[in-house]
Amino acid sequence: MPLVSMRQLLDEAAKGAYGVGAFNVNNMEQIQAIMEAARETKSPAIVQASRGARSYSQDRFLYHLMLAATELYPEIPTVLHLDHGNSVETCKSAIAMGFTSVMMDGSLMPDGKTPSTFEYNVKATREVVETAHSKGITVEGEIGCLGGIEDGHGAGLDGLSHLTDPDQAVEFVGQTGVDALAIAIGTSHGAYKFTSKPTGETLKMDRLLEIHRRLPNTHLVMHGSSSVPKDLQDIINQYGGKLKPTWGVPIEEIQLGIKNGVRKINVDTDNRLAITGAIRKVFAEKPEEFDPRSYLKPARDAMKKVVALRMTQFGQAGHAGDYAPISLEEMAKRYQRHLTA
Ligand code: 13P
Repeated sequence: MPLVSMRQLLDEAAKGAYGVGAFNVNNMEQIQAIMEAARETKSPAIVQASRGARSYSQDRFLYHLMLAATELYPEIPTVLHLDHGNSVETCKSAIAMGFTSVMMDGSLMPDGKTPSTFEYNVKATREVVETAHSKGITVEGEIGCLGGIEDGHGAGLDGLSHLTDPDQAVEFVGQTGVDALAIAIGTSHGAYKFTSKPTGETLKMDRLLEIHRRLPNTHLVMHGSSSVPKDLQDIINQYGGKLKPTWGVPIEEIQLGIKNGVRKINVDTDNRLAITGAIRKVFAEKPEEFDPRSYLKPARDAMKKVVALRMTQFGQAGHAGDYAPISLEEMAKRYQRHLTA
């Protein structure tokens, strides 16, 4: 089947009360890892690329790899999503490139660092929604700012200084018509999220519950949702790495989120850790090896294992065959009908 809209995947996830992991990629092995995990667990798949990933891969490579994925894994509903679009232009270029979903992150200015005003965020997001929906493409917006920096994107905040205000969230969704809303509840990008295991209070789960109560029909998105498992940290450090002790988002908190409107869960760091650990292990144990396949294959397998586990934990496993794809043209008509209704 062709690449599908993220809106369809998330609507289905809402019906089935499960979450869908969105995994970041930069190259072929990462895409293969996600698709293999999706096949093994019979899961729908969201593959996402940030601006950094698009420039690393010249993004035509990514797009064509994704076409290969749809050919080779026709049974998997698959989305290509732009992660953290920093401007209207970036989102429009992703749409022109064939992405079936875009995130307009207007919570920050186009420099990807400076927190913006609510008015700027609404205006930029609204513009992206108009363009995207006319082509049947999904839009994710963000209100409040996440912590950390990823791929040069992020305000470098601590994750708690710009939490999502529920009143603003309601206003933002009403004024922009976004399909999905990323909220800031204390998570941050990267490996160094927390210095001890976070509780539901550290994570401001109450705020998530409140936002869901006020916006029961909006698909919520949890960014910065890597769990940063100790075993993956240990492999890296065992083979010469230098990670400092750190904690990520516990799976049980994500599962609580999924029970309360979270439909998309962003995971990048856990896969980076798995890949790096596997490569370090080969380098340490077989220093005579120089065929890139000798370490890229274990790296791909290690990422596949993490993704398959997350797909199972988020509840998307088993749902790949639940529905037939809706074409982007049909999605565009639906948005049009909704607007004129
Ligand atoms: P992690 O760094 O927790 O994997 O978060 C990734 C993310 O939110 C991408 O947008």
